[in-house]
Amino acid sequence: MGYQQEYQQSLADKEAFWKQQADQIAWFKKPTEILKDADYGTHRWFADGELNSCYLAVDHQVESGRGDQVALYYDSPATNVKKAITFNELLDDVRNFAGVLKAQGIEKGDRVVIYMPMVPEAAVAMLACARLGAVHSVVFGGFAPNELAIRINDAAPKLVITASCGIEFDKVIEYKPLVDQAFELAAHKPERCIVLQRPMVTAELQTGRDLDWHQAHEGVEPAECVPVLSTDPLYILYTSGTTGLPKGIVRDNGSHAVALMYALRNIYGMNAGDVWWGASDIGWVVGHSFIVYGPLMGGCSAIFYEGKPVRSPDAGAFWRVIDEYGVNSMFAAPTAFRAIRKEDPEGALSKDYDLSSLRWLFVAGEKLDSSTYSWLDGLLGVPVIDHWWQTETGWPMTAPLMGVEPVATRLGSTCVPVPGYDIQVVDAEGSELEAGEHGNIVARLPMPPGVAQTIWNNPERFKQSYLTAFPGYYHTGDGGFIDEDGYVYITGRTDDVINVSGHRLSTGEMEEVIAKNSAVAECAVIAVADSLKGHVPVGLVVLKQGAEVEPEDLQKQLVDLVRAEVGPLACFRQAVVVQRLPKTRSGKILRAILRKIADQEEYKMPSTIDDESILPEITDTIAGAKVGGFA
Ligand code: COA
Ligand code: AMP
Repeated sequence: MGYQQEYQQSLADKEAFWKQQADQIAWFKKPTEILKDADYGTHRWFADGELNSCYLAVDHQVESGRGDQVALYYDSPATNVKKAITFNELLDDVRNFAGVLKAQGIEKGDRVVIYMPMVPEAAVAMLACARLGAVHSVVFGGFAPNELAIRINDAAPKLVITASCGIEFDKVIEYKPLVDQAFELAAHKPERCIVLQRPMVTAELQTGRDLDWHQAHEGVEPAECVPVLSTDPLYILYTSGTTGLPKGIVRDNGSHAVALMYALRNIYGMNAGDVWWGASDIGWVVGHSFIVYGPLMGGCSAIFYEGKPVRSPDAGAFWRVIDEYGVNSMFAAPTAFRAIRKEDPEGALSKDYDLSSLRWLFVAGEKLDSSTYSWLDGLLGVPVIDHWWQTETGWPMTAPLMGVEPVATRLGSTCVPVPGYDIQVVDAEGSELEAGEHGNIVARLPMPPGVAQTIWNNPERFKQSYLTAFPGYYHTGDGGFIDEDGYVYITGRTDDVINVSGHRLSTGEMEEVIAKNSAVAECAVIAVADSLKGHVPVGLVVLKQGAEVEPEDLQKQLVDLVRAEVGPLACFRQAVVVQRLPKTRSGKILRAILRKIADQEEYKMPSTIDDESILPEITDTIAGAKVGGFA
């Protein structure tokens, strides 16, 4: 069967298509209900099915005869440690740690926050939660204590799991003091904190609350898989929205497993026994779907890499890993390759390694610029595939089906819609546009399995964010167009979400933080193009009347503030003072215009603008914003 036939079938008879896919996984109780309507305009897949995601990822692999196969290759140039963990060993580790969690009172439905670097214990912690039917919420290590506290308050976990430190190039970042601060800041107080002590730093433990990872194992019985309903939540993953409050994306167990198996086999073309590398972090959706759950459920050996693309120890790190483990396919963000190219423009280091195991390379998370594409294409000699997805969907919306019929890719396009996703482009009124016309990218409801069910604690926000702007469609928040052959082109976000090094951030959130400075009357944070990170945020700040502060001092204060409250990953390094911001007559900042000016795109002057004479100054200021210029 070819792509077209597969795609048409997936839309013509959704239930039959996905029932067939659901038959590929080892349910405890097979579902009889395939698709049903749910509250707030959403849908539920396989509602009466029962399963356990940890069972599928670990126990089932051992039962299928893969016990001695490597499940995870832990490779840490950050610490010079390598480990090959078999499915048998992973099963022992996960059963034991699930026993630890159970002994601490963790039961089905309880939330557990995981704030850990890329150590295999982080995967063990996620899988152990899934084993008990507990809901994990992994928070990326680059977030500041304030952000961790916001997530603790929202998820209300019984327990937090962390490590004494993470490693960023040659810097050891102590995690435990950050977690302690988050505990202080949060109104919700988790009962316990389990700490993995790493050799580089020994964290101080608070008596009565904190437990050492290894000591907590003493005398504990291993725990077995708890059956959960397909629709029970597996995890909450917070992602940036347009306000300061992140959205807790809720993923179910059953439809997630079906979608991941479909994607692994059909999009990524991976079979059991293949070696897969998702070069990301467990703090992001890629880490959930394609470092931990997907490859393990599909019986692959997954690389678990604690390092960077460069200075690890050199810019040949990615090529070394491909060679050393015989990686068959991988995923990475374009930023990673821009960083490699910057340090090794000719790709000379790649010649030191045998890359012949690599069948194709997938990239996503941000726009793939043509020059990075051409560089990779010339260097690797295998298909370099841009594809598109987001935290909410959990798996790709547009991509070629490398496991079915590899359709040709097109430069600038993230390829064709994946089976299950009825992708359309609509105008501001919700009317579907013709091929080539630019508009809002949406997907006709119902969404396929695997897509977020709701926002934790806030189903109304889910409806407002995704289902209200264009009734009958899921609103992706991305703009773009579809060409006459059905290829989708993503031109960027249509809201206040930005992508920095493939990390999704909210400008609204940074604006709320900047507004705390007493000299600031108002501000707008915009994304300015950056040759390494794709985009970086720049603050345009209007001072209060009479505020006396040197621009250099103000910038330093604001940079420190964003770093302290959002975290270093925001890469907020520049704030410039402007006299006024462009606004409507009713006082709303015209953010769409600011975005267009920053992207050097043409814009239509809105009839509602109160004073267009300020636009030349704003344009000059943005053009002059020297990114990264602040030490
Ligand atoms: N824990 C603690 N701090 C972290 C962190 C983590 N997990 N991740 C990032 N940070 C910090 C960094 O140390 C840095 O701090 P600094 O300002 O003190 O130097 C800051 O956050 C910004 O980090 P980053 O954007 O990663 O910049 P960098 O200069 O350290 O590295 C790259 C540049 C290109 C090598 C790096 O951004 C990279 O590997 N990008 C690929 C990203 C990716 O894979 N994204 C995929 C998402 S799907
Ligand atoms: P995240 O939820 O962090 O995965 O970020 C999702 C957002 O990243 C999308 O809504 C897009 O704006 C952007 N994105 C992801 N993949 C691509 C891609 N291949 N090309 C352009 N933008 C992308």
